Amino acid sequence: MSAWIAMQGKPLRGRIAIPGDKSISHRAIMLAALAEGRSHIHGFLEGADTRATAAIFQRLGVLIEAPEPSVRIVDGVGLHGLKASNGALDCGNAGTAMRLLSGLLAAQAFASTLVGDESLSRRPMRRVIEPLRMMGACIDSNAGDVPPLRIAAAGTLHGIDYASPVASAQVKSAVLLAGLYADGTTRVSEPHPTRDYSERMLQAFGWPVRFGEGWVELEGGHRLMATDIQVPADFSSAAFALTAGCVVPGSDLVLRQVGMNPRRTGLLRVLAQMGADIRVEDESGQGGEPVADLHVRAAALHGIDVPLDCVPDMIDEFPVLFIAAALADGITRVRGAAELRVKESDRIAAMANGLRGLGIRVDETPDGADIHGGTLHGGIVESHGDHRIAMAFAVAAQRASGEVTIRDTANVATSYPGFVASMRAIGFALNDELRDG
Ligand code: S3P
Repeated sequence: MSAWIAMQGKPLRGRIAIPGDKSISHRAIMLAALAEGRSHIHGFLEGADTRATAAIFQRLGVLIEAPEPSVRIVDGVGLHGLKASNGALDCGNAGTAMRLLSGLLAAQAFASTLVGDESLSRRPMRRVIEPLRMMGACIDSNAGDVPPLRIAAAGTLHGIDYASPVASAQVKSAVLLAGLYADGTTRVSEPHPTRDYSERMLQAFGWPVRFGEGWVELEGGHRLMATDIQVPADFSSAAFALTAGCVVPGSDLVLRQVGMNPRRTGLLRVLAQMGADIRVEDESGQGGEPVADLHVRAAALHGIDVPLDCVPDMIDEFPVLFIAAALADGITRVRGAAELRVKESDRIAAMANGLRGLGIRVDETPDGADIHGGTLHGGIVESHGDHRIAMAFAVAAQRASGEVTIRDTANVATSYPGFVASMRAIGFALNDELRDG
């Protein structure tokens, strides 16, 4: 099992480039595969999750070339050109791959089975099975609504007007992808607006889509036409260096051209309320997405009540927010974040236990926690195979009084290959350690 040893390093300095956006990379492969013609994807995330998606489409008969790192050339087969695979399709650790593909494959004229790793095999799938069944799809799962997902060859699906009980871009996207093949209008509304990459990218591939804050609708029966996609840097990956820049004294860092979609940048609003010194500079657009440099300098943070309306806009950033909170003056209260319990790990429990082990008081609630700011000492932390838990504790260690061992770190490669080298380059004290057993 791989592990990291981390401890206090230097003030963080320099300019850092962040790998491509995971959500956008998944969607770019999927839509390019279903389009007519050749699409080029630049800035593709070379992570295990997004590579799993590309490998699945290759097994479904799509030619995908990788002429150089972070570039993919996809020869789309058209909406009805996918071929059955012989054997199960492996989504690895990627919830986005499994949930989006469930919608897409539920509409195909052939049967498929989607499997995942140990963590993904524990994650809830009823949230996609239910609306897809309402559309006429035939899907079943293992007991407890967990993977594998067995999807039968589809008859004709029909559009639905679906009020999703969860704020989830994955659920919304699964229904929309099935809706491409359905009769009539497919509409999804959400309790809080979530990332709108599927909507925007469908439009970029020429599919008419109507959408606004918290709703989207489209009709079946159009065509996707190949296009070129520029993937911006992933805000969720940037969040680690950004938070480290806030909490490591003397830091002065620039994160280059980070994706700034407002449905992703809730952490910026929350850190600003906590007293962070982060400047948004050099704003521009890249492939239809806003991007900017983030210039962060160390600052004293104080605890806040995280506003409920920020929660969906920072759903992947809570692990690192817990670290900022642990190092802030006073108590930070998180509520309305029960979804964190069904991510790659139970992120509320994983963060609370890890922080307690380093000397911080955390009071858990079903949908959040009260994190009492304090001082961190060394210790051993379990990441539970969750990439974002591991990276969050690498940030924490930069302020710990002793050495922090972070266990089970291999899955960092799902979203941030090169994390250790990049963080070391800006001043982190962080070492990769390979261990047996
Ligand atoms: C994602 C949506 C979010 C997010 C995940 C990526 C996406 O999941 O946590 O990392 O690409 O649509 P939920 O839809 O479960 O909120």
